[in-house]
Amino acid sequence: MCGIVGYTGHREAYPIIIKGLKRLEYRGYDSTGVALNNGSGLNVYKKKGKVAELEEAVIGKDLHAHIGIGHTRWATHGEPSDRNAHPHQSASGKLAMIHNGIIENYTQLKKELISKGYYFESDTDTEVLLNFIEEIRKNNQCDLEEAVRIALKRVTGAYVILLIDEDDPATIIAARKGSPLVIGIGKGEHFLGSDASPMLEYTKEVVYVNDYELAIVKPDELILKNLGNEKLTPYVQKLDLELAAIEKGGYEHFMLKEIVEQPQTIYDCLRGRLDPIEGTITMSGIQQYAEQIMNANRIVIVACGTSWHAGLVAEYIFEELCRINVEVEYASEFRYRNPVINKGDVILAISQSGETADTLVAIENAKSKGAILLGVVNVVGSSIARTSHAGAYTHAGPEIGVASTKAFTAQLAVLTMIALKIGYLKGSIPQERYMNLLNELQQVPEKVAWILKHSAPIKAMAEKYKDARDFLYLGRGYNFPVALEGALKLKEISYIHAEGYPAAEMKHGPIALVDDQLPVVFVATRDAYHEKVMSNMQEIKARKGKLIAVITEGDTATAELCDDYIEVPEADEIVAPMLSVVPLQLLAYYIGVAKELDVDKPRNLAKSVTVE
Ligand code: G6P
Repeated sequence: MCGIVGYTGHREAYPIIIKGLKRLEYRGYDSTGVALNNGSGLNVYKKKGKVAELEEAVIGKDLHAHIGIGHTRWATHGEPSDRNAHPHQSASGKLAMIHNGIIENYTQLKKELISKGYYFESDTDTEVLLNFIEEIRKNNQCDLEEAVRIALKRVTGAYVILLIDEDDPATIIAARKGSPLVIGIGKGEHFLGSDASPMLEYTKEVVYVNDYELAIVKPDELILKNLGNEKLTPYVQKLDLELAAIEKGGYEHFMLKEIVEQPQTIYDCLRGRLDPIEGTITMSGIQQYAEQIMNANRIVIVACGTSWHAGLVAEYIFEELCRINVEVEYASEFRYRNPVINKGDVILAISQSGETADTLVAIENAKSKGAILLGVVNVVGSSIARTSHAGAYTHAGPEIGVASTKAFTAQLAVLTMIALKIGYLKGSIPQERYMNLLNELQQVPEKVAWILKHSAPIKAMAEKYKDARDFLYLGRGYNFPVALEGALKLKEISYIHAEGYPAAEMKHGPIALVDDQLPVVFVATRDAYHEKVMSNMQEIKARKGKLIAVITEGDTATAELCDDYIEVPEADEIVAPMLSVVPLQLLAYYIGVAKELDVDKPRNLAKSVTVE
């Protein structure tokens, strides 16, 4: 996590950096800082809090410079404070550095430096690495580039670093391992960012820096090298992203905009792939590996957070439609567990950002053991997309709200298409069901639009339940992962404790929580388990819990059981999660708004978790 921005060129650097940091705030927002070099020295300004707070603090200060770096932080080492905010300055004051990632062996490096007389102003691993670089430069009498290279060979962990030097008011030195770095190429200027959003209005030409690469960036020159000091040819790509896609477009919050966008994003995801008339699904990446997927002994899905919930839905869908054994793993557990991976296993990574450190390392490990890697990723060109053998993009557009919404439904759409394609090729889906499901999938965007149109009561429900201390979310079958996702959304956005559980399993523990104060949200759309879910609802009602349910339109019998309910259109259970999650996203959103919380930037969270 952490957002980093850099600029070197003919324009004023500060406004570009501040605007870029605001766009990257989704990556972290507990402190902000900039370092500027105006030719006569470094000016470093930093502050605990969001970018806007730094802007206030620097009014009247010298902000003139044509080169600078900026950082928005998600704390790892050291609490959020002015002192721990980046950029950090080296002991001599000559170097300023920002960092995204974690230096794992920083304690050892720190000890070495302390024995040489260094002391540290902050608690960060970043300041340690910076002084380590400075010490190497001094000791070896080498230039900064060389010192960085030597230092990085000693470092374990993940990083993107940007460094500027008081004595070189044109050059930014950048390096990457495990965290993202994009360099935008302008005319006589270069832009650096954790993603391309800070540079969108200036250039569409970008270079994605790879792990173990070092960039020497000047206004007119971009030199890319590996850590062995060999020059590399930068691979320049064209950005296919418009500014409007990363702006709020009149909505109060990105989260609401992204929820409301879902009919379009699901449509965009299906477009050009799904053809219910011809009965085809076109996904070239999947087609390429279709044989291996069909014949796989098992598919292991690895993901984190909301993407993991999409994986759980996919488990049900793949097992049903493809008759392939599926396991869904938290990437953070999978990567350290020495899992048994056999040649021919298919590993499917799901990730919105494509940069989640745990997911990335988990698949790299699996790749080295001979597994086939598929990626279902939203961000084009991201690390997971590039590491995978093949896959499919979700095409949901940039997701800025920290709580994932449209990425989840797009993931489900892609995963359903993959399962349908493989099941069809394998012959494990009867033809009629296959055709029927293609139609069902095609109708999802308009059904989501229907839900949004009928969503007004959710706002009133939010007011009614906003002061609850806990929530329970229950569902069975395909709706069980939806219950988990509903609970996750609520805790992320409203800070209300919420637990998701399989509806029947509730009897084995969570039922003890039920009293007349506890709202229990059932995902109770009509499907194969509906009668059973209704019995579970009765069990809650008998204990005076407040019953809220997502139900199928016109299901009066279920509606009568509830204190409050939200309807969604009738749909096949395989596509139903894409519908039933939408009211739960809105409920979380409106409760967060009713509690006057910053729903786009909930406390302690970050959108792109690039540390393990
Ligand atoms: C963070 C975000 C979640 C997201 C998870 C996985 O925790 O706050 O919204 O689901 O990371 O991210 P990914 O980009 O891999 O889907």
